[in-house]
Amino acid sequence: MQKAKRPCQNIAICLGLVVGAGSVLWFFLPENKVLLIPGEMNTGHQNIDCDYCHRLATGSLRQQIQANVRFVLGLRLKAADYGRSPVTNEQCLGCHRRPDDRHPVFLFFEPRFKEARKKLQPQSCISCHAEHSNVRITLSDIGFCRTCHEKLVLQEDPISISHAQLIKQKQWETCLGCHDFHGNHIMTTPRQLDKALAPQKIRDYFNGADSPYSKEKHHQPLTEPQS
Ligand code: HEC
Ligand code: HEC
Ligand code: HEC
Ligand code: HEC
Ligand code: HEC
Repeated sequence: MQKAKRPCQNIAICLGLVVGAGSVLWFFLPENKVLLIPGEMNTGHQNIDCDYCHRLATGSLRQQIQANVRFVLGLRLKAADYGRSPVTNEQCLGCHRRPDDRHPVFLFFEPRFKEARKKLQPQSCISCHAEHSNVRITLSDIGFCRTCHEKLVLQEDPISISHAQLIKQKQWETCLGCHDFHGNHIMTTPRQLDKALAPQKIRDYFNGADSPYSKEKHHQPLTEPQS
């Protein structure tokens, strides 16, 4: 009796998957794109083609369905992606190449950042730059440096109040006042605390205002990913 029940269940699931795949594909037809953008694009991405971030999943649709049928039947360990793969660092880095990034995402896959990964997920671009949010940076805490720099001591501290002192006073909102995060702006780091950008300037920048650090950058993004 039990045996007769399973295929029927599986058919229902398979049918669900097929219908699901169809609707996902329908959504990505050019004429339907506007209907489903989940929100305004982030700063600078207004003219970027959807397909550069939403890559077609590997395999034809038939292969994807077959793979998922095998998954449902227990013959495959992982479900296959339908239509589009999730957006990963790879797509971002395809256009944003910055070999000297001061905080490169790959660094944070190391075991010593286990705690930081739990709190902040700094190993992924979209933890801080979730797309379709109409801002530049979605991370709301501008003092997030504390996650990793709590024990920071400089041998010879060049600033008017030492880093150790700032950290003791938990002045985490000052950090981005003197440093950018990726080190991509061409700028000189201030040494006087009163020359630091006010926290509100940084919040405005997160929300989409022009960069308060500098107009000059070491690396400009590409408008099409290099393959
Ligand atoms: C700069 C990269 C980027 C571009 C360009 C982009 N998206 Fe997205 N989109 C994302 C990210 C990141 C998510 C979050 C979900 C994920 O990680 O796949 C997302 C989520 C979505 C979702 C929610 C469904 C899902 O997969 O979670 C839809 C629908 C979507 N995007 C449609 C579009 C359309 C339509 C366009 C073009 C007008 C577009 N996107 C352009 C990065 C992008
Ligand atoms: C097809 C190429 C392309 C892809 C893919 C892409 N970007 Fe961009 N990005 C750009 C361009 C071009 C700009 C606009 C730069 C400008 O206006 O000076 C930009 C702007 C930005 C900005 C704002 C930069 C600034 O100075 O204001 C951020 C942040 C950003 N992208 C992050 C991401 C993230 C995160 C991803 C992956 C989810 C991603 N980008 C995917 C090309 C791309
Ligand atoms: C832990 C949070 C975090 C992560 C992860 C992160 N960013 Fe950023 N990003 C920021 C902050 C904060 C700023 C603003 C300070 C600055 O301009 O450096 C920023 C600024 C930017 C800018 C605009 C300034 C510039 O450098 O040209 C771009 C482009 C950008 N990020 C792309 C990326 C990409 C691509 C990734 C993944 C490879 C990524 N970010 C990962 C926090 C993050
Ligand atoms: C997820 C952990 C993490 C976070 C969050 C983080 N940092 Fe760092 N930062 C590091 C590590 C690790 C290094 C050292 C990189 C290396 O080994 O070269 C570093 C290096 C630096 C440097 C020196 C770069 C150089 O030129 O050598 C500065 C400046 C800096 N961080 C500032 C900040 C600021 C400001 C923030 C907050 C906006 C911040 N960091 C957030 C982990 C982090
Ligand atoms: C008044 C400006 C100012 C403020 C505020 C500030 N810094 Fe710095 N920081 C500097 C300068 C100047 C240097 C020397 C290196 C340079 O010129 O970039 C430096 C160096 C560093 C370095 C590199 C240390 C090394 O070993 O080379 C790190 C990491 C750093 N700062 C993190 C932080 C963090 C985290 C905060 C917030 C608690 C912070 N800074 C606040 C100006 C500032």
